[in-house]
Amino acid sequence: MLSKKLSQITPSYTIGISARVKALKSEGLEIIDLSIGEPDFNTPHVANAKAMDAISNGKTKYDLVPGLMDLRLAIVDKLKTENHVQYKADEIVVSSGAKHAITNTLLALLDPGDEVLLPAPYWTSYPEIIKLCGGVPVIIETSKENDFKLTADLLKPYINARTKLLLINNPSNPTGAVYSGNELSPLVDVCVLENIFILADEIYERICFDQPFVSIPSLSEAARQQTILINGFSKSAAMTGWRLGYTASNATIAKAISTIQGHLVSHPSTISQWAGLGALTEGKEAMQKMVNTYKSRRDLLLPIIDALPDTTYVTPKGAFYLFIDLSAYRNKLSFDTSFSVAFSDKFLLEHQVAVVPGIAFGNDNYIRISYATDLHVVIEGLNRLKQMIEAL
Ligand SMILES: Cc1ncc(COP(=O)(O)O)c(C=O)c1O
Repeated sequence: MLSKKLSQITPSYTIGISARVKALKSEGLEIIDLSIGEPDFNTPHVANAKAMDAISNGKTKYDLVPGLMDLRLAIVDKLKTENHVQYKADEIVVSSGAKHAITNTLLALLDPGDEVLLPAPYWTSYPEIIKLCGGVPVIIETSKENDFKLTADLLKPYINARTKLLLINNPSNPTGAVYSGNELSPLVDVCVLENIFILADEIYERICFDQPFVSIPSLSEAARQQTILINGFSKSAAMTGWRLGYTASNATIAKAISTIQGHLVSHPSTISQWAGLGALTEGKEAMQKMVNTYKSRRDLLLPIIDALPDTTYVTPKGAFYLFIDLSAYRNKLSFDTSFSVAFSDKFLLEHQVAVVPGIAFGNDNYIRISYATDLHVVIEGLNRLKQMIEAL
């Protein structure tokens, strides 16, 4: 009855875990939820105010498919001043979240059977969106020794006549890895030479702790032409529920994305777009405060993880996740197919802590913990992790 396409798709692990947490909570259990990649802050007041103003003043009708011109101009300005890359308004398409921006892009670029190179660990939805859009995800393993970053040498052997696109998530969910300009340039050079598009998901761009963030299209005009930049408001402006993201690309690709979006959703809610404009033009201070909080949480949490027996991690330089290697405990737990699922299930049922199993990101030795949650709650979760692994 259902489509063949659907049979290839795994439901989202993270959304599944959230539903389980909600169900357990409704049974009266107190769950420490470290699974969700959602800021624990409120949307900045300035964004809310702009949205309320839009509602009060009847700015609630259909508008331009690629997004409100005021918002696109503000995005152009943001990309110029913060990311050092020059776009025009007709190269920006505002969508209903970064997920939607990624989907639009893949629909615009992929023919059936086209390959998309995806460095692992990867954000859980990438392979599924690629498949839904007719593409074939080709996973490239990266190593902990290189902070889970892709290099040109790792990339080159995977390129063939079917390769259409390389997907890079910087900063990375789940590892927190951040690429420097020197690390990105050789990757871009390979893609330009081989005529492979780059889908640069930079949604965590502001949440970058130890080094300046480098946006891929800012590297050169060739990089800009070859790249479809993905960004959004969910993470940086705590606007997950408003569903607002965007692409920046060359005008030909932007037009194609806009054509697709026009038939599917027209445009994101205009109310959300006005809120996004408020966040971009007046919300910088509020956004920086959140980033400072994430950084101080990370700095306080790392020594706690250091003290966990037989666990390792790569120091996250951005985003708000800890990706913890528990491979030392693989032989201490019986499981059928997935160690990280068995571990996470046991952690939830016996210690009431929800985390995401690493298999959701393509690495079954790990779990992912989000610290976009009150610090004391995360610390209590890590205390329980210690109890659990000590008892294994
Ligand atoms: C790497 C990455 N890209 C995209 C998204 C989707 O963001 P949005 O809420 O804007 O759809 C997420 C959300 O978790 C993410 O982690």
